[in-house]
Amino acid sequence: MNHDSLSPPAFPSVVGTTLEAHIMAGMRGAPGATGEFASLLNAIGLAVRIIHTRVRAAGLADMLGYTGETNVQGERVQKLDAFANEVLCTVLERSGRCAMVASEELEQAHVLSETGKYIVCFDPLDGSSNIDVNISIGTIFCVLRAQSAGGRLYEGALQPGNKIVAAGYAVYGSATTLSLSTGHGVHGFTLDPSVGEFFLSHSNIRCPERGNTYSINEGNFARWDDRVKKWNAFLKTEDKERGLPYGHRYVGSLVADAHRTLMKGGIFAYPADKKSPAGKLRLLYEANPMAYLFEQAGGAATNGTDRILDIEPKGLHDRTPLILGSKEDVKTYRDFMLG
Ligand code: AHG
Ligand code: MN
Ligand code: MN
Repeated sequence: MNHDSLSPPAFPSVVGTTLEAHIMAGMRGAPGATGEFASLLNAIGLAVRIIHTRVRAAGLADMLGYTGETNVQGERVQKLDAFANEVLCTVLERSGRCAMVASEELEQAHVLSETGKYIVCFDPLDGSSNIDVNISIGTIFCVLRAQSAGGRLYEGALQPGNKIVAAGYAVYGSATTLSLSTGHGVHGFTLDPSVGEFFLSHSNIRCPERGNTYSINEGNFARWDDRVKKWNAFLKTEDKERGLPYGHRYVGSLVADAHRTLMKGGIFAYPADKKSPAGKLRLLYEANPMAYLFEQAGGAATNGTDRILDIEPKGLHDRTPLILGSKEDVKTYRDFMLG
């Protein structure tokens, strides 16, 4: 038989690029790739799809409300927080590719496999305060190479964000989307629930140089540093030349506020304040993954003065002020902080 007849006929593809196909294509570009990295990312994709199913039916599957426990953050644990954490830990353990996990919901890092090459830091369910009111929530993660510090793995997670090899976040919103970077730009996938697959929907997402919205919890105004107050007032002045005033948008779920800022430009800020002197958001599994993605998309991320990705973590649950967004808008913020 003439094998040529086996080559697929040249017709326009009627099937989109799945997450797995995108990851495998990236692997083909990496000489010496063993497939372990690809397999780890696919495992994370599976975990997100499982969490998606439970988020969609939370109100019907007795998944709303609290477990009754309090986590290491001192926050009351919601059933979905615990479920999402359990799913990620189980799927990553079964992948055999993950040496250790560091989770918002776990006091210590958990060693999963002595042979795994990677560490995954994650916020399993971001935006918990919005679960019960059907507002977008998400999952945030980043991947580091496992390295033992003095023969013990658990310090391995305490790496600065500039060591990240992949990061992403899911938004369980009007659609379930996954924004992912492995160091070659940011690519967006949308879940087709009818087939249970993520398909490439936003190739090479770029964060605009400047935007016209700012995102901050104005309720904290009285607690801010005077320089933050001045920056905030500046954005609300009338100045056509400078495109002011900016519009204000604030969902209260980092994934939703960050995704809008990544796609449309502008700035998201959760500065330190009198109530949260080190900032509220966590460095390892909220700020670092988001900072990596914004820089990969041409945006910027700072704690107000320094690059987020250069901050040396001291503890798994370190908090940091987080300012994310368009390069120009983040520069304006820094100018007010350094002015
Ligand atoms: P989490 O639900 O994982 O604890 O994260 C909540 C975070 C983040 O999603 C959001 O940007 C911020 O909390 C909102 O904080 P405020 O309610 O203080 O504005
Ligand atoms: Mn969070
Ligand atoms: Mn969380």
